[in-house]
Amino acid sequence: MKPRAIITSALPYANGEIHLGHVASTYLPADVTTRFLKQNGVEAYYICASDDFGTPILIAAEKEKKTPQEYVAHWNKRDYEDFSAFDIGFDLFYRTSSPENIEFVRYVFDKLKKNGHIYESEIIQFYCQNDKKFLPDRYVIGICPHCQAPDQYSDLCEKCGRVPEEIGNPKCAICGATPTKEKTTHYFFRLKNFGDPLFKWLEENQNLQKDVKKYVQNWITSGLVDWDITRDISWGVPIPGDESKVFYGWFDNHLAYISSAIKFLNDKGLDGKEFWNSADIYHFIGKDIVYHHYLFLPAMRLGIDSEYKLPDYIPTRGHLTLQSKKISKSRNWYIGLKEFLEFYPSDYLRYYLVSINPYSQDDLNFDWDDFMTRINSELIGNLGNLVNRALGFTKKTFDGVIPAPSAYDDKDKEAESKIRTFASELSELVQQNHLDRALKKVMEFSAYFNQYFQHKEPWKKGPGTETCVFLAANAVYSISIALNSFLPKSSQKIWEQLGMSGNVSTKPWKSISELELKSGHKLGEITPIFGRVEEADIKKRKEKFETK
Ligand code: MF3
Ligand code: ZN
Repeated sequence: MKPRAIITSALPYANGEIHLGHVASTYLPADVTTRFLKQNGVEAYYICASDDFGTPILIAAEKEKKTPQEYVAHWNKRDYEDFSAFDIGFDLFYRTSSPENIEFVRYVFDKLKKNGHIYESEIIQFYCQNDKKFLPDRYVIGICPHCQAPDQYSDLCEKCGRVPEEIGNPKCAICGATPTKEKTTHYFFRLKNFGDPLFKWLEENQNLQKDVKKYVQNWITSGLVDWDITRDISWGVPIPGDESKVFYGWFDNHLAYISSAIKFLNDKGLDGKEFWNSADIYHFIGKDIVYHHYLFLPAMRLGIDSEYKLPDYIPTRGHLTLQSKKISKSRNWYIGLKEFLEFYPSDYLRYYLVSINPYSQDDLNFDWDDFMTRINSELIGNLGNLVNRALGFTKKTFDGVIPAPSAYDDKDKEAESKIRTFASELSELVQQNHLDRALKKVMEFSAYFNQYFQHKEPWKKGPGTETCVFLAANAVYSISIALNSFLPKSSQKIWEQLGMSGNVSTKPWKSISELELKSGHKLGEITPIFGRVEEADIKKRKEKFETK
């Protein structure tokens, strides 16, 4: 861990509500990581923005008869509200259409051009005679030339993850007609220049996932193609010297990681650029945008002489499926984040989504019954039970005051050593990005102390009672700190029941293992932390998905 870090997660397109699929693979893992780094004294900032430009957004705004500016402003605000309700703690949620980003994008373009990485070329573009429009990207649907998958947008094949050079059997996405071809002049980024340096960068960076690295290196070996960065549409960052055209959204959007971070840091009175270059840089993404983050993004940074350093981590995760089927907004097969949080506390969703989400490209599945089972048996049956039992017993038997421990038997010694090693064991897993395993470790720790309590039978008030209560209460104290990055609200509740003041997030990580709850300390008020998820309720939630 470097003393500084900047964390970003894939910028959400400003054209629809945030759903469980978004948060599972990207925003939640990034949030947990940021909170963890902050607890460890790292000066960490979580920066995000709405992704405002591009053809799909223009199409959507046109449909709603709004200006693109109005349209993206609406979604920027709404997304931020939904994220906040889910306790995603952005330090800044900005936008790719900000003046800072527009200026930065144009600066990067000029520098790339000066460095010989940009050229102009006349190309033939699809053009729809009905709509009187050039048809870039999502305006054209056809067959992927790489894997032959049908119904793919011309800018990205969702089946094989590659960017088609020329889509087969093209159709206009607005009216369905077969487009004609017209000449237009575009700018190209010489991605071909970067095969070797990209390969080398991938080779040297030990923090990137090995499997992703491998297939990206295969793409490089099989030959990169230069990249068309111009669009003949009205919504985007105008190209310097050719202001009637705009940049492709994927040219400008990831630059908002940098421009937003720099704005945030400079506004804080720091030297933004110096901070960026001395920090660990994390970009959290879903596996559908590997191509952009492992090739375009680093190549562009290399192309401006690494004036802003390349990412150290690009944690890449699989997609969420819902009741074992692919999420689809258009088929109404999705769960909006806002809607979910009207029914269940954010920590339930955070618990569930972290638990089922390994650090890999494998897809993960949201299942309503599994959600209920895990909340009721793990979060409540194990963790809630320990908190309530250990603290409730102290309240009842010692008037809420932590007793002084007496001599330790072997079992007590083992229990104490569990606490002593907990902080470092947990930290190692989080640092390796294994958030699911880290959370599991917390649950194992809790289960261990439930058994310990059961085994010691303090209710019999035998000789070891004080020691048992002392250690069990300290285990709860450890859990309260350890859980903070995963379940911020519940961890704070536990903290208050422990009779502690202030915000638990300010407690240093090492406190987890220091048995800081001393004898004589008085606990707060004890109430159950969690309420059960009821079967009848889950049945209602499932209805929407059963009629399909
Ligand atoms: N909006 C894009 C998507 O949802 C992600 C943009 S990530 C960034 O696929 F790198 F471009 F910022
Ligand atoms: Zn394909």
